Amino acid sequence: ATAAKVRALLQQMTLEEKVGQLNQVVASGLTGPENAQAKNVDKRADIKAGKIGSLLTVKSVAETRELQDLAMQSRLKIPLIFALDVIHGHKNVFPVPLGEAASWDMEAIERSARIAATEAAASGVHWTFAPMVDVARDPRWGRVMEGAGEDAFLGSAIAKARVKGFQGKGIGQLDSVMATAKHFAAYGAAVAGRDYQAVDISPQQLHEVYLPPFRAAVEAGVATFMNSFNTLNGIPATGSAMLQKDILRQKWGFDGIVVSDWQSVAEMVRHGYAADLKDAGARAINAGNTIDMEGYAYSNHLAELVKEGKVGQATLDDAVGHVLAKKFELGLFDDPYRYSDAAREKAVHANPEHRAATRDVARKSMVLLKNEGAVLPLKKDTRRIALIGPLAEARRDLEGAWIVHSDPKSVPSLADGLRKGLAAGSRLTVTAGCDIACKDSKGFAAAVKAAREADVVVMALGESFDHTGEARSYTSITLLGKQDQLFHQVRAAAKAAGKPVVLVVLAGRPLAFADVAEKADAILYAWLPGSEGGNAMADVLFGDYNPSGKLPITIPRSLGQVPIYYSYLNTGRPVPEVEALYGSAYMDSPNTPLYAFGHGLSYTTFKYDNLRLSTSSLAGNGKLTVSFDLQNSGKRAGEEVVQLYLRDPVASIARPVKELKGFRKLRLEPGQRQSVSFEIDRELLSFHNADLKWGAEPGRFDLMIGSASDDIRLKGQFELTD
Ligand code: IFM
Repeated sequence: ATAAKVRALLQQMTLEEKVGQLNQVVASGLTGPENAQAKNVDKRADIKAGKIGSLLTVKSVAETRELQDLAMQSRLKIPLIFALDVIHGHKNVFPVPLGEAASWDMEAIERSARIAATEAAASGVHWTFAPMVDVARDPRWGRVMEGAGEDAFLGSAIAKARVKGFQGKGIGQLDSVMATAKHFAAYGAAVAGRDYQAVDISPQQLHEVYLPPFRAAVEAGVATFMNSFNTLNGIPATGSAMLQKDILRQKWGFDGIVVSDWQSVAEMVRHGYAADLKDAGARAINAGNTIDMEGYAYSNHLAELVKEGKVGQATLDDAVGHVLAKKFELGLFDDPYRYSDAAREKAVHANPEHRAATRDVARKSMVLLKNEGAVLPLKKDTRRIALIGPLAEARRDLEGAWIVHSDPKSVPSLADGLRKGLAAGSRLTVTAGCDIACKDSKGFAAAVKAAREADVVVMALGESFDHTGEARSYTSITLLGKQDQLFHQVRAAAKAAGKPVVLVVLAGRPLAFADVAEKADAILYAWLPGSEGGNAMADVLFGDYNPSGKLPITIPRSLGQVPIYYSYLNTGRPVPEVEALYGSAYMDSPNTPLYAFGHGLSYTTFKYDNLRLSTSSLAGNGKLTVSFDLQNSGKRAGEEVVQLYLRDPVASIARPVKELKGFRKLRLEPGQRQSVSFEIDRELLSFHNADLKWGAEPGRFDLMIGSASDDIRLKGQFELTD
């Protein structure tokens, strides 16, 4: 029915009106460089003339109503779509996406996106530019914070959960927004971790590592895609027919909108791929790009290109059809104001369950990296806790980048959270030591004094909210400024007094902090935890919540190891198999990371045993069930993320030393034992061979089950026969 309505409407539209549907401009504020072309544009007049089809960065009911009023004055009254970067919450802020990914909890991740969608849709927003499903393995890249980490399998599961969460029961429901799988493709593989840089990767890497989460998003029914700023092996993604037509539409059957990134159409000129703005417009639409975001290539030149025959009428109608179809699905032709209801916005934003959910997801996302001598959890009746560090009282920093409607003043700091948790008679002293940039050490003496007088020291170190995100690439990924010196001085004082030091790291990326990590008694990686960050950190530190997060990305010892990831290809000289002198090793550092992918401790312990395989030989389209017993061998209830890794040791193309192929998060009471199973089939063993053909090759497979990629507890083998 939608297709017929689209066809009928297309017949009534002029060429200029069609082009208008493909033109997206920013409503207010900037999320990219200012466009000189925009200066001469009267957006209000253009909306009335049907020359703008959608707007980005529209934030409220009032704004959406005002703009939609203008569209209703246009000849065909085609409603506008309003888009916004709702990345990790709208009114209530969840942990940054990388932090959420560390929960390995698909239900929690889906719930977070569901709440964000409900709140955004209540503000009149129809479309979020999320989730970012780019696999990222380089912590220099500031946008590592916006994704799900380094792994294709985990990233695919999270892509699905986020798309389902944003789109809920489907486009057109008043509590749903259209999701966007971005940035298509391989944006996360920017050379040297510098944002917008070229991407030069093998076809195998593209298909095995970077594309799977996008495909998963299509499978989950994602409504839209955004292409990316980067060139991929020389071709700008925005102009790549291989990506947008051959793979996305033909191979995967995607039938929605592909929006460009901010001016990415125009940027093809600077890439040296298009002669001028007009040429860029032709290349983009002919390669499958539907909407031009804030780029003015389509609005200025597309009509002319169609008249000249450089862009076919069918290509234009196809693109416009995608946009109109979504407007019909959103129900905007029935009621262009249906999402814009001020009373609903107020009520939904004030829902206390949303706020509570941010606390729950935040504590699930934190990763206990180290806990020597069981320093954690802290006792609530500790006589005196010294909280030290520039992030001790942080509020805005806890929220991370891309926040929309939140109120940073309402965010509890770590100091607030700890204070609330302490028993009567216990005391918390708070000393910053320095500001977040930590350029000077004037405040160190006060911090050292506080440490001396305390029974336990908790240090809150890391990054500011503005340190990770778009265009926030760094050549140094250590604790900012002199924070490491602050740590060492405080720690020396605490040690002299025989007191432990607990480190809380707040960051949107893996930081390289090996020196500090070695000296801390316990480390909680809390990411940038969102609206209830301080309370959530206190929940974990006091043991009201038993930590369950696992790293979705490797933490390197030093920047020199980057890129470092667990699923690497073996060398011919792996150490320690080959003596170090002639082995593939660094002379000044171990190869191993500081903390491996999948690592994360709990206040309890888990025992893995009794591995069973339903068969040792898997044939044809059969299935193999691998089972084992998991037991909570400690004294507290807790959750464990059990991880299944596989390796194909001999194949027609070298395969990684291990790849995540299954995981499950389970909660067990003390002493409780549970049988856990995974199913393995041919599909799970398949990969792209040297000719990019997908399939599994017969032979032996190694199977590993464990608590982290470097903590394998059970090993097995099986054969795949033809
Ligand atoms: O959605 C973003 C994208 O991720 C980066 N450039 C700007 C877009 C719109 O704000």
